[in-house]
Amino acid sequence: MRTVGDLRALRACIRAWKQEGQRVGFVPTMGNLHAGHFSLVELARRQTDRVVASVFVNPTQFGPNEDFTRYPRTLAEDSVGLVEHGCDLLFAPSVEVMYPFGAEHAVRVHVPDVGDTLEGAHRPGHFDGVATVVAKLFAMVEPDVAVFGQKDWQQLLVVRRLARELAFPLEIVAGPIVRDEDGLALSSRNRYLDTHQRARAPELHATLQWMRESFADGHARAAVEGAAMRRLERAGFKPDYAVVRRVEDLAAPEESERSGLMALVAAKLGDTRLIDNLAFE
Ligand code: PAJ
Repeated sequence: MRTVGDLRALRACIRAWKQEGQRVGFVPTMGNLHAGHFSLVELARRQTDRVVASVFVNPTQFGPNEDFTRYPRTLAEDSVGLVEHGCDLLFAPSVEVMYPFGAEHAVRVHVPDVGDTLEGAHRPGHFDGVATVVAKLFAMVEPDVAVFGQKDWQQLLVVRRLARELAFPLEIVAGPIVRDEDGLALSSRNRYLDTHQRARAPELHATLQWMRESFADGHARAAVEGAAMRRLERAGFKPDYAVVRRVEDLAAPEESERSGLMALVAAKLGDTRLIDNLAFE
């Protein structure tokens, strides 16, 4: 595996592959890689001839009081894991390469509607930062296939909308959520949890399963959502939302709609904010 940090080297490598007619898969990440990320690398590997991963902790998607400075940076370990999982090229750019005019002066991409609700509402500017960096990465890597995790379902929808409207000639593929044995979705932020918090964290997934069952039993959406919020509070979380939404666009469903739905939750355990989701069928 080669590691490159600048655009010239990245483009030279990818151009050479494309000239040989090889299809390029791309997995963008912020690093501190775990089995969830590696499952996406393997998924890309199965669909394309060459796999590129990026590791870039993107400043523009963090709010002023969020964890940008303390976000775990573990490039040496990440690089070992990427080799093991069959990655061909690691793009690990600096902030200057990604934002030549400075992060505050960057051209910005805003994805309305699906980007404005839930995470978009609770983390203002977050999806502008995600959409901006993903658009830049797509333009730099020019992949044939880009792979994203269903763990960040809303992000996946934001990226799909962005790729379609900005006419990136690529296919977006989604990989399933990889969880620990107790149900907790793997996340780089799980490492912030102390032992006590880690023991409570699976309640997030348990609440999603409870929402699915309760909804299947015919309970009204608002009742399910309210009870889920209280359940999370009782378990020691500070929930931002626990909602039932349409899978396709995250709009709130009519009371009569009973299919094509999912539950999504976001909650803090101490200072650590976790998100998870579960499709109903
Ligand atoms: P990051 O949080 O590092 O996640 C990179 C990719 O891994 C995303 O597509 C995410 O959905 C996926 N992923 C994370 N945990 C997963 C799990 N447990 N199972 C399956 N997939 C999982 O998401 C980002 O970085 C950034 O916002 C990024 C898209 C790189 C833009 O900066």
